[in-house]
Amino acid sequence: MEREKRKDGICLRMENISKQFPKVLANENISIYLKRGEILALLGENGAGKSTLMNILYGLYRPTCGQIYINNHEATLLSPKDAISLGLGMVHQHFMLIENLTVTENIVLGMEPGSWGFIDFKKARKIVKELSEQYHLFVDPDAKIEGLSVGQQQRVEILKALYRKATILILDEPTAVLTPQEVDGLFVVMRSLQERKVSIIIITHKLEEVKAISGRVYILRRGKLAGERVTKDISKAELAHLMVGRDVVLTLNKENRITEKKPGFTLQNLFVKNDNGVTALNNLSLEVCPGEIVGIAGVAGNGQKELEEVLIGIRRIEKGNILLTGKNISRYGVKKRIQSGLSYVPSDRYRYGLFLSMKVSENILASSLDRKPYVNGINLRLRVINRRSEELVTMYGIKTPSVHEPVSNLSGGNQQKVILAREFSREPVVLVVSQPTRGLDVGAIEFIHSEILKMRDRDTAVLLISMELEEIFALSDRILVLYEGSIVKEFDPGKTSHKEVGYYMTGGGER
Ligand SMILES: Nc1ncnc2c1ncn2[C@@H]1O[C@H](COP(=O)(O)OP(=O)(O)O)[C@@H](O)[C@H]1O
Ligand SMILES: [Mg+2]
Repeated sequence: MEREKRKDGICLRMENISKQFPKVLANENISIYLKRGEILALLGENGAGKSTLMNILYGLYRPTCGQIYINNHEATLLSPKDAISLGLGMVHQHFMLIENLTVTENIVLGMEPGSWGFIDFKKARKIVKELSEQYHLFVDPDAKIEGLSVGQQQRVEILKALYRKATILILDEPTAVLTPQEVDGLFVVMRSLQERKVSIIIITHKLEEVKAISGRVYILRRGKLAGERVTKDISKAELAHLMVGRDVVLTLNKENRITEKKPGFTLQNLFVKNDNGVTALNNLSLEVCPGEIVGIAGVAGNGQKELEEVLIGIRRIEKGNILLTGKNISRYGVKKRIQSGLSYVPSDRYRYGLFLSMKVSENILASSLDRKPYVNGINLRLRVINRRSEELVTMYGIKTPSVHEPVSNLSGGNQQKVILAREFSREPVVLVVSQPTRGLDVGAIEFIHSEILKMRDRDTAVLLISMELEEIFALSDRILVLYEGSIVKEFDPGKTSHKEVGYYMTGGGER
């Protein structure tokens, strides 16, 4: 019997797993299996329960009920230590490395608690080196973590799991932090692990990745298993349907518009410093015409935050000018910029976008409440306010019990829609949108993208700042690459590739 089962090549089974958190049933009766040497994708929207299921497998959470079998033996996983001893390894969304230690020290650390003094570092270093060569996980074993890029740190996490002889590797949204080049590199590593019969579970919410790397896929929706498919037998559209529970428009139907070269939004030779007084924007110039979407592509930390802040009016300009249809608004504060026709969707919606404890209606009309028709003398006209906010809630499909609900009770996607409803309904001349869909579901993304396009089609000049290259390509009429505070390259999205743009995003270093 035992041998019979081994022949099917199944190394892991999770059976009827449920996990009840105080407020949510995060996993509901989920059964999955994993074959030896397989790359399995776990696909689902935010909050679908993917991380929870894998954290249960790694011994971080106890399931409310259900069983786990590893190599056909029932496993009781009380901690990651148990999981590691059974051959499991996990790379989390947030890395767990110690900044001021070296790569080798991090990898060895925690292996033999209490016996640091006895560790043979020379031998460990040699093993790390061998592993890194064998699996294309190139990283200097003597480098300090603090000096490594995010992609390199991820390699260290994978090495750490391999050093502990993991035969089942769990990767939780590993590509979220990588450039297109680094994603390719990771996939090379995954394939070479697969060749050596390491089994991999990759968590993702990106359909392209499922198609690119996995052999089989489980789709989770709201804590339940919504399907299991052999990847090559299912299209992206079908995957999206299973993930969201309805049809989703995956490719925007975007017509190219001929825009007149009229002045819309102009940034002239901007110099701006970051919080530490270091130059963050270095002689940055660009122009967005009415009816055009200009996308700013770049790796995080190249000046995006400072650009956003200086446009909104909350960061000082050292030198240079910002013009709105030819008018210099450089010295204007936030309010005056809004009155001049600027709208913005900030990347940090909690800090700059919303008053969390206030009602939906108050948030949705916030920047217009001091104007007609909402004031009458000194009284806010409540009935007008409620009627208008109800209209906007309907128009933007915001899910809320009523317009009196505090915004803090809404989901991330619906909070973002509140911001959109407020900013877009002002009919702005210029719209600055930063990371508009970060952390949101496919369904919400679809809606937000089509609303941004509508704004363009109503002749608004749209400046889009995004770390998601997919998003930049989907929306932009022109792409500008931001690198170390300057625009280093301009692209026509129809005439370039993710790879080529990615190349300039990293300063032309890694091809
Ligand atoms: N430690 C926790 N305590 C309470 N609720 C949690 C915890 N972890 C996750 N949840 C909830 O469980 C659900 C599933 O979350 P998660 O597994 O992180 O989803 P995913 O990884 O698919 O985005 C969400 O509603 C989330 O808020
Ligand atoms: Mg997760």
